[in-house]
Amino acid sequence: MPTLTSTAVAHPNIALIKYWGNRDDTLRIPANGSISMNLDGLTTQTRITFDSHLGEDIFDLNGIRQSGQALKRVVSHLNLIRGIRGTAIHAHVLSENNFPTGSGIASSASAFAALTLAATTALGLQVGEKDLTRIARRGSGSACRSIPTGFVEWSAGESDSDSFAFSIASPDYWDLSDCIAIVEPEHKKTGSSEGHTLAGTSPLQQARVDDAPRRLDLCRDAIQTRNFEALASVVELDSIMMHAVMMTSTPPLFYWDPGTLNIIKIVASWRKAGIPAAATIDAGPNVHVLCETSSVAAVAKRLSGLPDVKEVMISRVGGPTALV
Ligand code: DP6
Repeated sequence: MPTLTSTAVAHPNIALIKYWGNRDDTLRIPANGSISMNLDGLTTQTRITFDSHLGEDIFDLNGIRQSGQALKRVVSHLNLIRGIRGTAIHAHVLSENNFPTGSGIASSASAFAALTLAATTALGLQVGEKDLTRIARRGSGSACRSIPTGFVEWSAGESDSDSFAFSIASPDYWDLSDCIAIVEPEHKKTGSSEGHTLAGTSPLQQARVDDAPRRLDLCRDAIQTRNFEALASVVELDSIMMHAVMMTSTPPLFYWDPGTLNIIKIVASWRKAGIPAAATIDAGPNVHVLCETSSVAAVAKRLSGLPDVKEVMISRVGGPTALV
């Protein structure tokens, strides 16, 4: 086989209804469905080159040669895609993130979305969007939601074939922004993959999962009707429910810093005072403050003035994973 190259770019996404815990950890069949929006402006760009002269896979992230767990995860995703194509050819993967890795901005989502599209394309596989989301899901669950455009739902399903993601609204359907308040840019201690395996140890997880269809309906309706108040209340409830599960797992996972809680409280008080903003947190201390883009300047300015906030990154609703 000759040299086969392809480059893809993907956005991370912020979950509005969270994925936490799997019914199958290996296939990444989630315990519940989830909804997210892609984050425009933040990107992972990945170039892959399959080369028959390579004796092993090579993975460079932000200019640094990777080994250990990071490399293993990429190799195992490449093995999945090589298996579909029926080849053993090795690859050189070059990835660049333009945002901090591992701080609650889901870098694994954009990483595995970009890798999936780049690798399948380079190997000449014709894969439709639904199947791309199923392959990306195997690399990182949330990655399946970075493949389609705009606002995306991941239907949990019960098996590999029916657990996939699809767009429920395009980026221009509702002009929302995410003001990401960076409390702590350091790499998180317990990664999501390990966290998912602990979810079932919390006595609250079953209640969270049982109530998920109701929250998914509320979130979908809020998006469809562009009702910010309705979106804010379900998004904040869902995020706090996930963190309640995390904090009551064995061992417990505390992703919040004191600054995280301060921001959650102040955002709620802003909303009471008429500034439409809503806070949500993934597996890290940073707070994603959602608002309508018409109020983004005011929200970002207020956030920047808080003592716990080191930096604010602003992102609108992003498009799909695409070839470059
Ligand atoms: C808290 O998709 O990062 O961000 O499948 O193990 O890669 P893996 O986990 P990942 O989990 C994301 C968890 C979350 C919530 C969410 O994005 O839905």
